[in-house]
Amino acid sequence: MRQHVNPLSKNFKEIERIPSLNQMFGDPSLNLHLDIGCAAGEFLFDLALGNTSWNYLGIEIREKLVKTAKLKAREREIKNLYFAFGNANNILNDVQSKFFIKNVKSISFYFPDPWFKKRHYKRRVIQPEFINTLSNLLQIGCLIFIKTDVKDLFDYMDTTISSNYSFKTLDKKNFNYSESFNPNKVQTSREKYVIENQLDIFDKIYMKI
Ligand SMILES: C[S@@+](CC[C@H](N)C(=O)[O-])C[C@H]1O[C@@H](n2cnc3c(N)ncnc32)[C@H](O)[C@@H]1O
Repeated sequence: MRQHVNPLSKNFKEIERIPSLNQMFGDPSLNLHLDIGCAAGEFLFDLALGNTSWNYLGIEIREKLVKTAKLKAREREIKNLYFAFGNANNILNDVQSKFFIKNVKSISFYFPDPWFKKRHYKRRVIQPEFINTLSNLLQIGCLIFIKTDVKDLFDYMDTTISSNYSFKTLDKKNFNYSESFNPNKVQTSREKYVIENQLDIFDKIYMKI
């Protein structure tokens, strides 16, 4: 069982500056999807290879995973995929973020760390202040996708996002995945495990209005 990284540790105060879109991607004009807490990035490799008309940026707080993923993307010469190391909350709060955020069309928070104890809720990646930051940064129409197998965490994330009047819930039944960042409904590593073990999945999609 891996030890969860405490995102509030002072080690993560300093952040890696996100390079310009030109430096990250072969074609900087493509729609950009952000995956927060991407772990080793398998999900993003599958997406980037299967759907070359989008750019993908993964943000992950475990440095070793990011180093390995970056190297793999470079070796395979994948031009629509980039990884950044750090606490996503701090990275997106950085002034530099406004330079790449304009291309962001969607963000996924898939199976984030649950931090079950109440005193640790503040370590959860989705926080009211963070959603407020996103509501100020994101363009109208930008989508947020959440997914988890932990009902309590789902309720917490849903309440936090829904309490912000800049986001409305989309009807999943009528959602057209073929036009989204994930036209082939690729699954994350955790999602595959959850499906294999027949656990419940709770998910929702929101749009910036
Ligand atoms: C349970 S794993 C899920 C990984 C992947 N999304 C999946 O579905 O398989 C959650 C990941 O989020 C990362 N993480 C947790 N808090 C974070 C933060 N504040 N910023 C960036 N990454 C974070 C963890 O290190 C971990 O790799």
